[in-house]
Amino acid sequence: MTSYKELGLVNSREIFAKAMKGQYAIPAYNFNNMEQMQAIIQACVETKSPVILQVSKGARDYANINILRNMARGATEYAKELGCEIPIVLHLDHGDSFETCKECIDNGFSSVMIDGSHFPYEENIEITRKVVEYAHQFDVTVEGELGVLAGIEDEVSSAVSHYTRPEEVEDFSKRTGVDSLAISIGTSHGAYKFTPEQCTRNADGILVPPPLRFDILAEIEKRIPGFPIVLHGSSSVPQEYVKMINEHGGKLADSVGIPEEQLRTAAKSAVCKINIDSDGRLAMTATIRRIFDEKPAEFDPRKYLGPAREALKEMYKHKNIDVLGSAGHALD
Ligand code: G3H
Ligand code: 13P
Ligand code: ZN
Repeated sequence: MTSYKELGLVNSREIFAKAMKGQYAIPAYNFNNMEQMQAIIQACVETKSPVILQVSKGARDYANINILRNMARGATEYAKELGCEIPIVLHLDHGDSFETCKECIDNGFSSVMIDGSHFPYEENIEITRKVVEYAHQFDVTVEGELGVLAGIEDEVSSAVSHYTRPEEVEDFSKRTGVDSLAISIGTSHGAYKFTPEQCTRNADGILVPPPLRFDILAEIEKRIPGFPIVLHGSSSVPQEYVKMINEHGGKLADSVGIPEEQLRTAAKSAVCKINIDSDGRLAMTATIRRIFDEKPAEFDPRKYLGPAREALKEMYKHKNIDVLGSAGHALD
């Protein structure tokens, strides 16, 4: 058993309380490898932002849980070395069972998500409560989910999505004891969120997807005031990276993500955690494709992974500063 405290990590309780008060959201960035972890830590140290390092089941299978735990330890030491001890959470994204959550808690994770949203309501409550009972013994925080997002959720494809029902949130949070709640208000997972046909064009000719259901969010906030809310599926699908990928041999279909403006609005509400994975994949892939195309003789991985890491860092800094508003809040 490794306690997250030995690794220099924190749970999400205090940083969520501060984010709620300060009207910003904590970035939850997924990582699977060293370059992604370094980019996240560099960006968050440079912008003085708290951060949630997020690990999916796919990431665990890819990278190995022992390696990930030690990378999280490395992340806290790296932040210190870079000159700012930002709060860092190591979080399990979309935990699919009690056993998966327990294994992560036992391996030094400071926060876990139990995603029971695909189960009938009472089953969701039962599994979530079981995880909370175990996690809270070790002061690990737990995220539950109500409502089903469209798109791919960590190997679970949600063909049938539905919005969170506000009338369930009070009962769910009370009976499970969860620390935060992921909700479904129109975001979705992956790089293909909205097709151009689902969008309208604004005055500048830019495609704008259907707005998030802020009315549902407001109703949820009314029923559980001050309770930390989480938004999954919040990549904005930057068109510059989609274009760069396609200009350098890629074949991505046209797609539109969640507009930054809407995420800014969400970050000022009870939304305390915003999940972003796909945008990082796009930034890395675009940079690597460009280098492969422009320098076909290059074969040193550092020569393409290094610039990809740099592009990732810049993108995360932009999100912390201009979208989530978490910049400057590391030492609150
Ligand atoms: O919500 C899903 C995350 O983007 C993780 O995706 O299972 O491919 O690592 P992954
Ligand atoms: P995106 O696919 O929009 O980046 O969402 C990631 C996410 O919700 C991880 O849990
Ligand atoms: Zn998610």
